[in-house]
Amino acid sequence: MNMDIRRIGILTGGGDCPGLNAVIRAVVYKASEYGWDVLGIMYGWKGMLDASAVPLKKEDVKDILPLGGTMIKTSRTNPYKVEGGEKRVLENAGKMGIDCLVAVGGEDTLGVANKLTKAGLKCVGVPKTIDNDLGATDYTFGYQTAVQIATDAMDRLHTTAKSHDRVLVCEIMGRHAGWMTTDAGTAADAHWIYIPETRGSVGDCCNMLKERYARGDRYAIIAVAEGAEFSDLDIKAAAASTDAFGHVRLGGLAETLAKEVERRTGFETRHVVLGHTQRGGSPIAYDRILATRLGYKAAEMIRDGQFAMMSSLRGERIEAVPIEEAVKALKTVPPEYFKMAETFFR
Ligand code: F6P
Repeated sequence: MNMDIRRIGILTGGGDCPGLNAVIRAVVYKASEYGWDVLGIMYGWKGMLDASAVPLKKEDVKDILPLGGTMIKTSRTNPYKVEGGEKRVLENAGKMGIDCLVAVGGEDTLGVANKLTKAGLKCVGVPKTIDNDLGATDYTFGYQTAVQIATDAMDRLHTTAKSHDRVLVCEIMGRHAGWMTTDAGTAADAHWIYIPETRGSVGDCCNMLKERYARGDRYAIIAVAEGAEFSDLDIKAAAASTDAFGHVRLGGLAETLAKEVERRTGFETRHVVLGHTQRGGSPIAYDRILATRLGYKAAEMIRDGQFAMMSSLRGERIEAVPIEEAVKALKTVPPEYFKMAETFFR
């Protein structure tokens, strides 16, 4: 047992994700077992800049397991983009008596945790993102819930598309990685899938649609990742603004793609943007359990003095891996994985 720990903080950063509350609950329960106080830092790294926190006891988290969102809120604040941000975070950690901080987030949030550990604040990480694009873990919690939501949505699109002889283009979240689109597209039997990694051809898809309609299958579902790029069409998602980590706000690409498909084929083509529907609501059982296991392990890592480490799913096991390894490079869909999905394009 690490005797230097009396109080820990926990924060959730970046986009919310089904299962965040399950992590918070697991950390609070384990901390109580070890006799530590827990502070819930409000709004991610913003709460560390503002010294804004609430005490969390078992009583406070006892009913939150099935709830979506995060009870301690989140933001995309980056303390390294704020003048004197690092110093303020370190000073506030001292003022609040935080001996170690659990950062629950994706590459941005964990990248900050990694830097702060080097600057003297002990941190451990828990991998979160519906995009599943974080390195050093097989899956992030929240991902399977988001895939299920997208699959259910596309299942519904099949019947309405078929009734109206329409092509329906479904836009799925996923900035740089097409995991959700590949998996949900495969699970929902989409007829074509576009992801950022492959730069697919609109012409090939339109040829497939013409063949499909000619043989009597007069409808189709196209799954497209919000960050997809194309080999024969220069459509980039509308970049209205960027966040503190420099990411553009995506969304809207499906509309342009649908218009282009209709123009090239003459088939009525509409679009649907799933957007934040994929992040909201209750986590499925798998994510409740994965989030609980990852939070439980994070507390054990603090107990064992494993700082600058992240709890991670490796096969069936939960292990501690360096945060550095997780944030080194984005985990994208390997070509051979996408090849299997392509087998079912028709
Ligand atoms: O990183 C998760 C994610 O849901 C991405 O798939 C998406 O591009 C982004 O967040 C949207 O973030 P926001 O809600 O801040 O616009």
